[in-house]
Amino acid sequence: MESPVFKERNELKGLLLSGGTGTRLRPLTYSGPKQLLPVANKPILFYAIENLRQAGITDLGVIVGENARHVKERLKDGHELGVQISYITQKQPLGLAHAVKTASSFLQNQSFVMILGDTLLDQGICSFVDHYRAVNPVAAVLVSRVKEPEHYGVVRVENQRVVQLIEKPKSFISDLALTGIYAFSPRIHEAIESITPSARGELEITDALQWLVTQNEEVIFQIHPGWWKDTGRPADLLEANRLLLHDQKPCLEGYADPFTRVTGNVRIERGARITHSTLIGPLVIGRNAHIEDAVIGPYTTIGHEANIKRAELADSILLDRCQIDGPIRLSRSLIGRETVIHKTKYEAGWIHLILGDTSRCDL
Ligand code: TTP
Repeated sequence: MESPVFKERNELKGLLLSGGTGTRLRPLTYSGPKQLLPVANKPILFYAIENLRQAGITDLGVIVGENARHVKERLKDGHELGVQISYITQKQPLGLAHAVKTASSFLQNQSFVMILGDTLLDQGICSFVDHYRAVNPVAAVLVSRVKEPEHYGVVRVENQRVVQLIEKPKSFISDLALTGIYAFSPRIHEAIESITPSARGELEITDALQWLVTQNEEVIFQIHPGWWKDTGRPADLLEANRLLLHDQKPCLEGYADPFTRVTGNVRIERGARITHSTLIGPLVIGRNAHIEDAVIGPYTTIGHEANIKRAELADSILLDRCQIDGPIRLSRSLIGRETVIHKTKYEAGWIHLILGDTSRCDL
């Protein structure tokens, strides 16, 4: 028989937001959604699904927009990831609160945990979800201390409660930023019905939360003790890559020849073949990738079936099946799937590139 704890744990639904346009990550988002871009060789969205599953939440609604096809092809019905997925189409990205509204028939009258699909954090969300379950407030937000609160949605708190929410405050009110992880009771639907679109034309979840606060409802918060990253821009994606590679478990499932020197935290996945190279961890080399006469790392993710020759690569993410033939030195770069880079002349300086899928670059 199911334990009462397990039954209670299953009562929360999960809502994952994978719509939006991802304009800040163009050109990589022309051919697929940002939430499927790999960090440490795993799509960003998979981390959020794992976090929900670990917190005992397996009935998930995934908001999809114009890139619905890619998300559905990748996640399918969720079975392989240990969850059950219902897809909810948001015709236009009209805001986070609009996404919740669009999901109302999936959410019904149940409480739920919502995660923005481009959010990454260490240590998972179990403690946040357990706290929400224990207190059972109208809403809860996971926040993180930040150095530049003017760039974030921030909350002012008093006596364990949120008392004010402001989007990108011009003057200092608090350094606690919203991380993109929320828990809501069904009262949030009433709040969303009560607000109007903001100046940028979106139904804002911060406005809905502020409405609850103004009604004197209990909105609680928890401060995330570890790192947290919103992967909206290329620099964020590279930083998330550094953080995740740093924490990864090393493994050697592929082949490195005796002329290859390996130091630090290195993952070489199944079928990868490395010859006459130097690998400086943290790094990951994807399945069936071929590396020859190269210096890779630190903080570098090489996608599956990539082919790299005569290159120095550091602090970069290279997606599946890309091909690089040097001599070339690349750092702080994001290289799309099946992109080909060919360079004929050696230059001492490092090159920084952001290239979308299937690009061709002769340098
Ligand atoms: P944002 O990063 O705010 O928006 P975006 O994805 O459109 O990116 P950009 O500003 O670069 O164009 O969105 C945060 C997350 O919420 C992201 O995973 C996309 C998702 N989202 C929706 O699902 N529906 C929406 O209406 C909005 C605004 C965002």
